[in-house]
Amino acid sequence: MSQPRFDGKVAWITGGAGGFGAGVARRLAAHGATVVVSDIDSDNGELVAKETGGEFVPCDVTSYDDNLAAVQHVVDGHGRLDIAFLNAGVTTGVGVGDDFDLALYRKAMSVNLDGVVFGMHAAIKAMSGRGGQIVATASLAGLTGTPFDPIYGTNKHGVVGLVRSAGPAHTGDGIFINAICPGFADTNIVSPQARAALSSIGVPLLDVEDVVDAFISAVTSGEAGQCWYIQPGRPHEAFRFRNVPGPRDDSGGSVSDRAGDVQSTLTERRAH
Ligand SMILES: NC(=O)c1ccc[n+]([C@@H]2O[C@H](COP(=O)([O-])OP(=O)(O)OC[C@H]3O[C@@H](n4cnc5c(N)ncnc54)[C@H](O)[C@@H]3O)[C@@H](O)[C@H]2O)c1
Repeated sequence: MSQPRFDGKVAWITGGAGGFGAGVARRLAAHGATVVVSDIDSDNGELVAKETGGEFVPCDVTSYDDNLAAVQHVVDGHGRLDIAFLNAGVTTGVGVGDDFDLALYRKAMSVNLDGVVFGMHAAIKAMSGRGGQIVATASLAGLTGTPFDPIYGTNKHGVVGLVRSAGPAHTGDGIFINAICPGFADTNIVSPQARAALSSIGVPLLDVEDVVDAFISAVTSGEAGQCWYIQPGRPHEAFRFRNVPGPRDDSGGSVSDRAGDVQSTLTERRAH
């Protein structure tokens, strides 16, 4: 894959202390970008920042104020924000039956969904008037049911819904919002038990670099509202969602295939 240059660009990466965040930080820095790494893991975040010639700014993504402050720090220090990678995430480990745990539920929703909403809001404010790229890390769990972790499936579907909804609403400002949806990958978030279970049925883990490649495709695609799925052994691509069947009129006839018209009319109206 040919690598585009990011000279002069400034990127902010949440969950940048390891895994996909660190991989994207390394790739962007190697191709000219200045990276600002955020995480709650300051020790490893500082290491990634040092290695990439960037900067570490602590940010707990569950905090609205932390997100605004981190982005303000980026803009104050570097004059701009061009790329935001909203990637911090946790697994849940609880279900909605007897194993439900309110605190773990709140934590998972807060990191995986609030964190992306708050980070997106902060990034859009900073990119207003000059444009930029925002990529959120969802998951295959945002594209399909995940009975082994239904709360994770819920918040990752939330990220997919947010990206599909906010994406088309901000292209007029030159802000392109997309998601990446990796399958199981070789990072710390995948437990030894999950690794053993996957191995027992012959499912390979993605390499971090596979996911970084998809991130690069997302930020260079010129598209918005897309969710790039990543599976071992396949080329990554934007997932093609099936359209919802269109409305019918009183006589049962097809009104049209104008679901898209309804969306753009309401979006236009909201903007005024
Ligand atoms: N590895 C996989 O199999 C896989 C698959 C699909 C999606 N994902 C998603 O990819 C993203 C990155 O995960 P990863 O696989 O690189 O694992 P990882 O555990 O290496 O990275 C997650 C990072 O998020 C940070 N983090 C957790 N809570 C935070 C908070 N409140 N504020 C700021 N940072 C916080 C962690 O400290 C960690 O550095 C997550 O959103 C995860 O859900 C992972």
